[in-house]
Parts: sequence; structure tokens; C-alpha cells
Amino acid sequence: MTSKGRDAGDTQDPLFCQEAEEVYRNPTELKMSQIVLPCHANHCGELSVGQLLKWMDSTACLSAERHAGCSCITASVDDIHFEHTIGVGKVVNIIAKVNRAFTSSMEVGILVNCEDLYTDRQWKVCHAFATFVARRTEAGKVQLKQVFPRTQMEQMEYSLAAERRRMRLIHAETITDLLSSSTAQLGECQEYQDAVPAERTRVESVELVLPPHANHQVSTFGGQIMAWMENVATIAASRLCNAHSTLRSIDMFHFRGPSHIGDRLVLKAIVNNTFKHSMEVGVCVEAYQGGEPLRHINSAFMTFEVLGGDGKQCTLPRIRPEPVDGKRRYLEAVARKKIRLDRKYIISCHHTEVPVSVPWDPSNQIYLSCNNVSALKLMDTRNNWVLTFEKNKVEMHVSVPAEQTFHLLSDLRRRKEWDRHYEECEVITQVDEEDTLYRVAAPSVSKGGKGQDFILLASRRKPCDARDPYLIALRSVTLPTHLPTEDYTRGEVLCAGFTILEESSTVTKITYYNQATPGVLPYISTDIAGLSSSFSSTFSACSLFLEGNKDSLAALPPSAL
Ligand code: COA
Ligand code: ADP
Repeated sequence: MTSKGRDAGDTQDPLFCQEAEEVYRNPTELKMSQIVLPCHANHCGELSVGQLLKWMDSTACLSAERHAGCSCITASVDDIHFEHTIGVGKVVNIIAKVNRAFTSSMEVGILVNCEDLYTDRQWKVCHAFATFVARRTEAGKVQLKQVFPRTQMEQMEYSLAAERRRMRLIHAETITDLLSSSTAQLGECQEYQDAVPAERTRVESVELVLPPHANHQVSTFGGQIMAWMENVATIAASRLCNAHSTLRSIDMFHFRGPSHIGDRLVLKAIVNNTFKHSMEVGVCVEAYQGGEPLRHINSAFMTFEVLGGDGKQCTLPRIRPEPVDGKRRYLEAVARKKIRLDRKYIISCHHTEVPVSVPWDPSNQIYLSCNNVSALKLMDTRNNWVLTFEKNKVEMHVSVPAEQTFHLLSDLRRRKEWDRHYEECEVITQVDEEDTLYRVAAPSVSKGGKGQDFILLASRRKPCDARDPYLIALRSVTLPTHLPTEDYTRGEVLCAGFTILEESSTVTKITYYNQATPGVLPYISTDIAGLSSSFSSTFSACSLFLEGNKDSLAALPPSAL
């Protein structure tokens, strides 16, 4: 296990506001600390991930119940990436808090640290976001009280939680669409001489749900089901090369339906595909009672690797899938791997590590759009701006309803009516109601010089509730059909856009942001980025444009234009 010292980077996760802990503690925050004993560990002396998932689920559930004031169930757990394994004798510290409540569901942020008591060192193991739902009562669905973020960190998580929720609720559909488009391109499975038959890794196991596996409402704990799933997946992974395998990541868990005491759970796992150093294991859980038909409770995909004695990843053998379903899963595993890599690459908190212009591809649209909006939300909530970035922010109030303002500003083609830097603006693709690709051309800043052009992804979002603003986020992307030309210098925008907040039915606050990294400043049009001296006159023109069009029927959503 790699261990790192107790420094700001390790212990201060964006999830939690450590510096404010002394003066303020989030009322939903709960902590759990456990010493890892041999009974929690596998034969290699490492904490079993299943046990960790149970502790994470229990801490998060208690945090959700503290906010809800009633019993809650796990609806889903977003992707988890485990950065380290945890040895026997170490202490596991888990902190959970409710980031945001929606109607009957809540997002709970979970942070897991490992502590070495003898060296006083701590390091981060993983963080996760789980959704808990307040159990329905006889009166129907529970309406949860809102969360009121107090600190800047809480505000940030509150704001990002709405975007994560959007991703979660379309997750299954997104994956199905991406799989059907990408597996069609992958063709047939390749046959390898020395491949291991997938059948050799198949596991089937049954569990009887007993009272210790369930909560006081007789529902099986989500963490217990995850632990059983991890158990069969580990067996399948280890069978592949008859060696101990280490779980690196889990794709989103979604609990499709509840399970109760007395249920028999049938867990099935098999290696779907292997890559050079990692393999995907799929697990499916079904429940039954007596002679009733099987109920599908959960399916998950886990990525394992095998470490050699030197701690390096071993090269894994190829797999020979079974006919029909095996072959389909083999190809889907290749597609899921690409999706995971795209997602990891795009959804990164470290903006400096992501190139300014990310290639646009229909297969990464959903993540790029989420990243675009999240980046703007981060700018919106980061008051203590770190001056490693050039920044710009302008606020103004207009007497135009927020929704109308949103529609008027959403269509970038109309921006030339108030911004002389938008000399030309064409829609390249109207991807869907929320995302549009534009090419924008700006005039030359020097006489006789070249103009600049930009390929921009504009992502729009309506508020999740009355406390959210409308958002229009802009970022550069690259498109093979729109490569830079000799006539224009290609400009790039890392993150820019508007937040539009309804202050009253007639007064709207508009905030314009722009962010540019120092490394790319020479290539950024200062004017389009809004850094020039003409900035304030541009925004007076914007205000006049909005007020002049406040009753205009032309302010239709771009999809309707
Ligand atoms: N991820 C996150 N939240 C989800 C979700 C998912 N995949 N699917 C539904 N939800 C949320 C909805 O957004 C909604 O939130 P809101 O009230 O804040 O808007 C809430 O769950 C309830 O949705 P609703 O449409 O009323 O119910 P549903 O029929 O979709 O059921 C569950 C959702 C989670 C209640 C249901 O799937 C279930 O009972 N699952 C099993 C949960 C369980 O027992 N877990 C423990 C382990 S078995
Ligand atoms: P899909 O077949 O689309 O992957 P499922 O929900 O049926 O979705 O299964 C999820 C995963 O569980 C599969 O990818 C596979 O790895 C594993 N699995 C499903 N059925 C079996 C089975 N009968 N035996 C072993 N593993 C299975």
C-alpha cells in the first residue's frame, strides 16, 4: 500500500469544509471510525472492499436519516474509484453529510480516509456520492426539508449535486445509447489461441437475508448487497489467473427494487473481458421468496487488477467469451472501458490537467456537457478565487424575467445584437435541447490582422429548484469538421458563461464569468473572453438588448428556433 503524509492535499477534500469545522459543523455530518481487524480482511491482510462498502453505506444512511427524520433506503451509489487498499491494524475514518435534498431523495457525500495510528499519517482512500430516498409513508411520497448550505464548500457541493443528479437519472439510458452505438462499430470478438474460457470464471452464489442483514424496517441494507456482490466478483476475478485480484473501481450501483428479510438472493458473476492490466467483472443480483418469480435487484460492473510481488500490475490473459450473451458482454465491456476513460478524462476537478479544447464526440457529449456546466458552477461558488487563473466576472441586474433572459441569452446567434465581438455566429449542430455547438468569429483586434474563430459548446440548464440559477456554460471543443483555417486564428475558451438568478418576478441578476489559463492566454481572444476595456459598454448594450426584447415572442428556446 502506498501511504502519504498528512498534508492539505490528502486530508482536505472538496467535499468537506475542514477549516470551518471548529466554528461550524454541518448538522447532517456523521463520522465513523473503525480499526481494521483480521475478521474484516481478506487472506492478504487487506480490508475487504465489501466490508468498507457496508461501513460507507451505514454512515451515509445515518446521515440521510438525520436530515430526513425518517427511515431511508439506498437508491444508488455513483462510480467509486479506490486509490489505496487498507491493511489490518489501520483505522478507517468515514465522514458523510447530506449535500442536497430534492423531493424525497438526497445526495450524501462520503469521504473515506485511512489512518496509521503509529505514524500519525492519513491518506484518502476514496470518495463517493450516494442517493438515499426517504421511505414512502401511507400518505405517499415524503417531501424532505431543504438543505441550506452555510459554507462555500457546502454551497459548491449543493450546486454540483443538481448536475450529478441529472447525470444519475439519465445514466441507464446514456449507457444503453452509448453501448448500442459503440458496440456496432466494434464488430466481432477476436479469437485468441491461449485465451481463458470465460466459463472458468463464472460464479453463482445464494444468500439468505437474515435480520442482521436488514435495517429496522426489514429491508436489506444496500451496503450488505454491495458486499455480497463484491464477494462473488472477487472470486470470478481471481479465478481468471488463479491469483489474488484487487478491486480498483465500481461503476454506478442502482438498486432497482427493495429486498427484505427472508429473501433469497442469487448472485451471479463472470469476467466479461480482460484488457492489458485490468478486467471487467459483471455481477447480477436477483431475489426470490418461495415460488415467486425472480426480481432483478441490481447489476454492477467492477474493474479489477492483479498485482505481482513487486506491486506492479500483471499482464492479464485474454478471455474467450461464451457464445451470444458472453460475446455481447465482451464487446460491451470494451465500450464501457472507453466510456469510463472519457468520463475520467473529462470530469476532472483539476481543470489545469484537462486540455482547453476537448475533442467533441457524440459518445462523450453527456460528460462534456456536465463538465461544462459543473465548471461554471464551480466558478460561481468559488468566492475565494485563487489567482492562478486569469478571471473575469461581471454582475448586473435587469428588469426582465429570468426565464426570458435565459432564452434571449441562450441563443448565441443573437449575441451580435449587443456584442460587437460576435461578428458571425452559426449553429454547427443543435445536439439536443440543452447542448448546441457553435462557430463564432470575432473581428481582428489589430488593423489588417486576422480575426479569431471559436468552436464552442453551449450547455444550458434550467434551475433544479427556486434557489438555483439558470445557466449558460460555454467551452471550446474541437471538431474534425471544423479544423482551424488560414483565415482565422483559432481561439479557445476554457470556461465562460452566464448564471441568471431570479431575484423577483421582474428583477434578474446576471453574472458573467470567464476563465482562461495563463498557458493559453496568448491564444485567447481577449475580447470574446470579455477582458477588454470595452467590457462594460458591451454589458450596457446587453442590458438594453434584454430590456428591449423582454416581451418579445422571439425569445423562444433555441430548440424551437
Ligand atoms: N439514482 C438516484 N436517485 C434515483 C434513482 C437513481 N437511479 N432512481 C430514482 N431516484 C430517485 C428519484 O429521483 C426520486 O427522487 P425525488 O423524490 O427527490 O425526485 C426518488 O428516487 C423516488 O423516485 P420515484 O419515482 O418516486 O420512485 P421509483 O419508483 O423510481 O423508486 C426507489 C425509486 C429508489 C425508491 C426504488 O427503485 C427502490 O425501492 N429501490 C430499492 C431501494 C432499496 O431497497 N435499497 C436498499 C438495498 S435493496
Ligand atoms: P448484461 O447482460 O446486459 O450485462 P445483466 O444485468 O444481465 O446485464 O448482467 C450483469 C452482469 O452480470 C453481466 O454482464 C455478467 O457479467 C453477469 N452475469 C449475468 N448473468 C450471469 C450468469 N448467468 N452467470 C454469471 N454471470 C452473469
